[in-house]
Amino acid sequence: MLIELRKVDKIYQSGQVSFQALKEIDLSVKEGEMIAIQGRSGAGKSTLMHIIGCIDTFDGGSYQLDGTDVGGLRDGQLSKIRNRTMGFIMQDFALVPKFSVFDNIAIPLYLGSMGMRKIQSAVEEAAAEVGLFGLLDKKANQLSGGQKQRVAIARAVVNSPRIILADEPTGALDAATAGEIIGLLKQQNEKGITVIMVTHDNLVAAACRRIIEIRDGRIAD
Ligand SMILES: Nc1ncnc2c1ncn2[C@@H]1O[C@H](COP(=O)(O)OP(=O)(O)OP(=O)(O)O)[C@@H](O)[C@H]1O
Ligand SMILES: [Mg+2]
Repeated sequence: MLIELRKVDKIYQSGQVSFQALKEIDLSVKEGEMIAIQGRSGAGKSTLMHIIGCIDTFDGGSYQLDGTDVGGLRDGQLSKIRNRTMGFIMQDFALVPKFSVFDNIAIPLYLGSMGMRKIQSAVEEAAAEVGLFGLLDKKANQLSGGQKQRVAIARAVVNSPRIILADEPTGALDAATAGEIIGLLKQQNEKGITVIMVTHDNLVAAACRRIIEIRDGRIAD
């Protein structure tokens, strides 16, 4: 099993107030799956994505990622595993506006130790895969929404991740552009990359073989 969560809890604590955002989440994901996570606003979808992506810690239960016990890792090990395994796509694109398209795609590689020549070819390959041509020198804030999301996908795949985590990847796009973006994610999935995405959109969810609903911090059956 690639991802195995067992009875995972997440409790947000601010001062005296605590709030349990996830309750005993059991989730197993096989390599190569394409999964949609649905549920109302505040249900805990992003919280779950952050835990799966090793961006955030959890408070109870266990998380095995490809056999590694994530709960037992320190920050340094966690970020290493995250950079090696995960590609992230966020609803608001999360690009650096003043960076060029090239630099935005290259961010995960700049964090590693790859040389500039290899970075160049990896970025060009990722850009071509998502249909971004002739835009590498443009600034991110000069792109359309659909182009921005292509850059975000290129950045997510440039590191050859095993898992793509997408939180509302089509939330800011019109239906036709959303369809293109989902097509790109499907294409990545067909290459064997596991894709997990949060979506409010039933048409988008329908592109996934498996749909999981989160209700008040629990997985609904
Ligand atoms: N840093 C935080 N501190 C305290 N509470 C938080 C924090 N982050 C999220 N929460 C709460 O946890 C719950 C789940 O939040 P989460 O962001 O996972 O929801 P979501 O399902 O992604 O919602 P949306 O569809 O609106 O994005 C919400 O009630 C939210 O208010
Ligand atoms: Mg959310």
